[in-house]
Amino acid sequence: MLFLISAFTFCLLYYFTARRVRGLQYLFCGPSVIDAEYNAANHRAFFVPTPSNSHLMVSSREQIREYTNAPASKLSLHAAAKEFLQPKHTMHGFEWKDQRGVEGTGFVRALRSLMTANLPHFLPVLSETVKIQLEKEISEAHFADGKSYIKLHPMMMRLVVKTNCVVFFGEELARNDEFTSAALQFPENVFVAGEIIRMTPEFLASTVANIITKGHRSEKTLFHYLGPIVEARLETRRKERNGSLISSKPKDDKQWTVARTVGEIVAVWFSSIHQVAMESMRVSGSDAITGRRKVLEPFQLSDGTHASPGDWVCVPQRAIYFDSTFYDHPHAFNPTRFVGKERLTDAAYPWVSWGCGKYICPGRFYASAILKLIAFHIIREYRCSLEDVTASRFFVWRSAIVPRDSTVVMFEKLAALG
Ligand code: HEM
Repeated sequence: MLFLISAFTFCLLYYFTARRVRGLQYLFCGPSVIDAEYNAANHRAFFVPTPSNSHLMVSSREQIREYTNAPASKLSLHAAAKEFLQPKHTMHGFEWKDQRGVEGTGFVRALRSLMTANLPHFLPVLSETVKIQLEKEISEAHFADGKSYIKLHPMMMRLVVKTNCVVFFGEELARNDEFTSAALQFPENVFVAGEIIRMTPEFLASTVANIITKGHRSEKTLFHYLGPIVEARLETRRKERNGSLISSKPKDDKQWTVARTVGEIVAVWFSSIHQVAMESMRVSGSDAITGRRKVLEPFQLSDGTHASPGDWVCVPQRAIYFDSTFYDHPHAFNPTRFVGKERLTDAAYPWVSWGCGKYICPGRFYASAILKLIAFHIIREYRCSLEDVTASRFFVWRSAIVPRDSTVVMFEKLAALG
């Protein structure tokens, strides 16, 4: 009997220690852990342990269909987003519901229809903004031997923020440096604070958020400028077809106060910034997983694989993109790979970068336009090369693959090269 109890205790300890070690391994090498498990699973579903829960990875067309067909009361995108962004603390008390639609999806609809329909109207001014901002960045950078030395990722962040500000908030606010600095700082604060708060006991979360966000300074600046504008719009209830997103609050919901409306805009602002500034989407995407859903009620795939409440279900996009079943020579960047076959905005298996099912990214047409405008202006005007081809360009945290701020790209004006 004693032997059985000892053996059982040993197994239990071994299991929890091994699980913890594998969970920690996920923190520092998430993408390679997922890739290795994906290759071993041969397109079947598999689990990856993380320090807080397990991620059930689904990659076949059928299993992705099964999980996207599950009701939001069972698998929730917003509950997953709440877990990693911690909006209650990082977005200053802005409480998200676990299920989308509980308080309306006005802004998602606005992005999907209003913003996409108005893209042709926005394109000339967006193109001009990208051109001017790019020239400004390059002219202010260190210059030697005919080359401007630019830290690529910080520059892309500033460029995307400036350009998005025009569409989200109008040209006047986009010219206001205090506002655009806050608009740049805010997503970074949310990302870092959200991550640290996940590992902090709940009773310390507000204090930690306060310290990291320097008293929610960037968010307060956004509220300071946006509050009066939103208030004026709410009062007049004027709907400007060619106006900014601020006009798109649902008409019928009395709970949409100024603070709530600004909070909602600021949350969408977060979605619009952080992925656009990353680089090539297939070969060097910014995340090894997509389509996150938190399990709210027990969930089972038809093959019997079972996920418990608290776990996440995700799609291992990077592993799919590096799978030769789907892409020839998958690790090679081939600029003509998709020409004439697929469009960047397509959201069909195996192209899962925009997510899956009913939550597919509503900002993808806008994102695609901005990415192409930036690429167009760079390719047309400059020859680019890495300052140090051997230096590491990314660091990894959980499933994220984050470009390093230290990566320097040299820009040479094509006109000067003759
Ligand atoms: C390259 C850039 C972008 C990528 C890769 C991307 C990707 C995604 C993904 C994977 C999701 C979750 C879908 C799911 O889980 O099934 C999502 C949702 C969302 N995205 Fe994007 N996105 C990008 C740019 C944007 C932009 C520019 C905006 C706004 C203008 C935006 C607004 C949103 C919103 C509001 C949601 C939530 C949708 C909902 O609740 O139904 N995204 N995006």
